[in-house]
This record gives sequence, C-alpha cells and structure tokens, in this order.
Amino acid sequence: MHVEVSDSYRIGCGVLMNKGDMQFRNPKRTVNSKQDLSFYEYYAGYTEGFVEDVLEFLGLPQGSIVLDPWNGSGTTTRTANNCGYSSVGFDLNPVMAVVAKANLLDGSVESSLSSIAEDIVAKAKRFRLSNLELSDDPLLVWMTAVTTKAIRRIERALQQLLLPTATYVPIIGLNGLQRISSLTAFYYVALFRVTRNLFRRFRGSNPTWIKKPASVSQILDVEPTVIFNRYLATVEEMLRFLPSLTVRRGPLAIIGVGTSESLPLKDGYIDTVITSPPYCTRIDYAIATQPELAILGYSISDVRRLRMQMIGTPTIKPEVPEPSEQWSEQCTKTLEKVRSHSSKASGTYYYKHYLQYFDSLYNSLHEIDRVLKAQGSCALVVQNSYYKDVEIDLAAIVNSMVEFLEWSLVERVDYGTKRTIAAINSRSNAYMTTGRHTVESIMIFRKGATRDV
Ligand SMILES: C[S@@+](CC[C@H](N)C(=O)[O-])C[C@H]1O[C@@H](n2cnc3c(N)ncnc32)[C@H](O)[C@@H]1O
Repeated sequence: MHVEVSDSYRIGCGVLMNKGDMQFRNPKRTVNSKQDLSFYEYYAGYTEGFVEDVLEFLGLPQGSIVLDPWNGSGTTTRTANNCGYSSVGFDLNPVMAVVAKANLLDGSVESSLSSIAEDIVAKAKRFRLSNLELSDDPLLVWMTAVTTKAIRRIERALQQLLLPTATYVPIIGLNGLQRISSLTAFYYVALFRVTRNLFRRFRGSNPTWIKKPASVSQILDVEPTVIFNRYLATVEEMLRFLPSLTVRRGPLAIIGVGTSESLPLKDGYIDTVITSPPYCTRIDYAIATQPELAILGYSISDVRRLRMQMIGTPTIKPEVPEPSEQWSEQCTKTLEKVRSHSSKASGTYYYKHYLQYFDSLYNSLHEIDRVLKAQGSCALVVQNSYYKDVEIDLAAIVNSMVEFLEWSLVERVDYGTKRTIAAINSRSNAYMTTGRHTVESIMIFRKGATRDV
C-alpha cells in the first residue's frame, strides 16, 4: 500500500512549519482522543503529536538519529521513524520493548494480518495437549492448566509460523529481542491484550498493581474456545489502530531491552533524545505488566529481580547509594526535606527510595550526555510530585543536574495535569491541600550550547 504524503501530515513531520508559530501539543494522553489509542494502552505514555512537535521545533536534518532511553510503548521510535529519521529505543522492561516493536509495524501489511491470525488460531487448535509441558509456567499462579494451555497453544503456533526457531523458546530465553520482528511482536501484543483483559479481576483501585488469587475459586478457568475467539477479535480490534500513516520510513529502527544507566551505544552516536523518565511517584512499572511478563516466561522471582532494577521502584536495593553533591543543591535540599520529615519511615524507607531514584536519574543523564553528539539536543517530559507536603520539583532538579553537564535550557512549557498517581493513591492525598497541583513540563536542552540560545 502506498500512502500519499499530505501537507497536513507533513506539517507533523518537521518539514513545513515556521518556528515562530511553534506550539507543543500536550504530551499527556487523553482517554477519549482517538489519536492516542494504540495497540496497547500504556498509562505512562505520551502523545505522537508531542513528538512530532518536538521534531518540528528542532528541525533535524535528514539522516539524524533519535533516541529514547525510556522508550515505553515506543511513541518516540515510531513517530521519529515515520517522520523519516532513524530511531533507537531502549526500555528495561521487555514487555515494553515488544510493544514498541509492534508499534513499528508498517501499515502496508494490513491486508494480511487477519488471515495470519486465523492461521495462528487454526494451528493452535491442532496442538496435541499432551505435548505441552507446563510444570513451572508462571501463568499457573492465576489460571488453571486448561486456560494456561490455551494461551500457550496460541503462543507456540505464532512462534512456529513467525519465529525462525526450530523449537519453542519462552521469550525470556531469547538473548534480547533481535529475532522478533514487528509482525511477531504484533501477535504477541494481541496475546498480551487477551491476557490483560482476563486479569481484570486481579486489579484493585491502583491500576499498576496485580493481586494474586486469594483462593482457589478465584483462579481463572476460561474455555480454550473462548480464548481463541477473543484472540481473533483482539487482532481485529488492533487493526483499527494500525499505524497506516507511514510517511517516510527512516533508514533504521532499533528497539532493545536495556538500562538507561548503561546504553550499548558509541559516544556521540545520537543527534537527539526525546524521552520521559519514570516519574518519582513510586509507580511499579514491572508489577504493572506482570501478566505480560508471565507470557514472556518471567516467574515471580524473575519479576522481583526486574523490578529491583527499574528506576523509581518501590523496592529498596541491598546497597543504597550515598547522596552526591553532583546531584545538585536543589536535589540534596529536597532529599534533606524528605529525610527530616516527621511522618513515619521518612528518614528510612522513603529517604532510601528517593536516594535510589536520583542516583539512577543522574547516572542516566550522564549516559545520555555520553551518547549525544556535541550540540545534540534532549527533550524531556517530567512531572512534579509530592512526598507528603514536600514538593519534588523534578523539572527544577533535572535542570540543575544538567548544569554539571553544561547543557542549556532552550525551551520550557508547563501543563497542568489532573491524571496523576497521587490522585490514585488516596493515602498520599491526605497531604494534598488546595493550591498544590501537578505540573507536567516539557524541557528542551542543547548540549554544550551557550545560555542565550
Ligand atoms: C514514563 S515511561 C516512558 C513512556 C514512553 N514515553 C511512551 O510514550 O510510552 C518510562 C519508562 O521507563 C522504563 N524504565 C524504568 N527504569 C528503566 C531503566 N533503568 N532503564 C530503561 N528503562 C527504564 C519503564 O519501563 C517505562 O516504560
């Protein structure tokens, strides 16, 4: 399928717009906006429109490489690639890397997607159940063997049809995701969506938490035919969101699993970073994707190891870093306010949590600086938050942290926002008084530029 480049779309791809007219669309996704719907609903994601506007603002030359070191569902990698740039994205969570790969699927394959799904399901139905060894399948924590087998039959069928491996391998056993194409990733995301829907009963008021069944009667027992039909229906649903507006494919799109604190990239390889770090709101990004991680073969203890490494994790590592002066005065003053707060566990658990967070954030900003070219740019979306009545002004902290790197702030836009994790967590609301609100900030820095850019 060939898509004509319309002027209105080109405006969204950094070619036509006059910088004097520049306004950034709000990065916050809204539930009702059609444009924001994607293959996989990711509460932590920002909008394509925002990425287009940043690319517009920067006016990058052809051949530029755009990086997102906290790539999540891959909004940056997909949008930059659709605008003709090479894009590179890493996320520590392999679930997000699979989603980001699926989001790179080219709209031209649209007409084959339903029939491939039918082939997958037909093959899944033919599997002999006795050939499926489940003994330590992580899904068995939440599902009966029959339901788990139905999910695994689909997974095996899709692997046999779309993965160049002779025998079945849980994705956790593959070294990285290099062998998974966007097409394979698309069908994995369909399986994620079916499973996520089944898991609804294990969710509470906090959308990032998954409970274990409290009793045997709560274990999911769903007929295989229901699962197979839901899988087909889910693929049809996903087709509605297929990124069919591919305009100019960038030469390169790389999605990997890795930490922002140590990127597998050469010094000075990247022209521009567009990203949003995990916020300082104790979101548990690993637990939030536990159903999907189970599909990829992550046991409860594998998930525990993963969450330990995630930035902003509510878990405390065995070795907690010491505060460093290099994190900036703004940061150390905030940490001191947390440490000396009168509420319970401020000087122990919460202080350690914030120490870990700022240590990882600082290391990541250093790593971004290393991989950025001289004069490269970095657009960050950050959000403030509160520890009790202490404001964690992430924009101000990041701004002072990058002074050590000699980056200059070129542009800053603030948006008020209502959808916050603090609003979900009612206990932290006890400290929320009127006049205090959450702000999401877009900050665009230039590496090594002078202040008056
Ligand atoms: C705010 S979200 C980014 C969302 C993304 N901009 C989008 O549109 O979907 C932050 C991401 O950082 C990831 N993350 C957490 N710790 C990480 C680390 N140490 N290295 C790389 N990614 C990490 C989380 O899995 C999460 O997907």
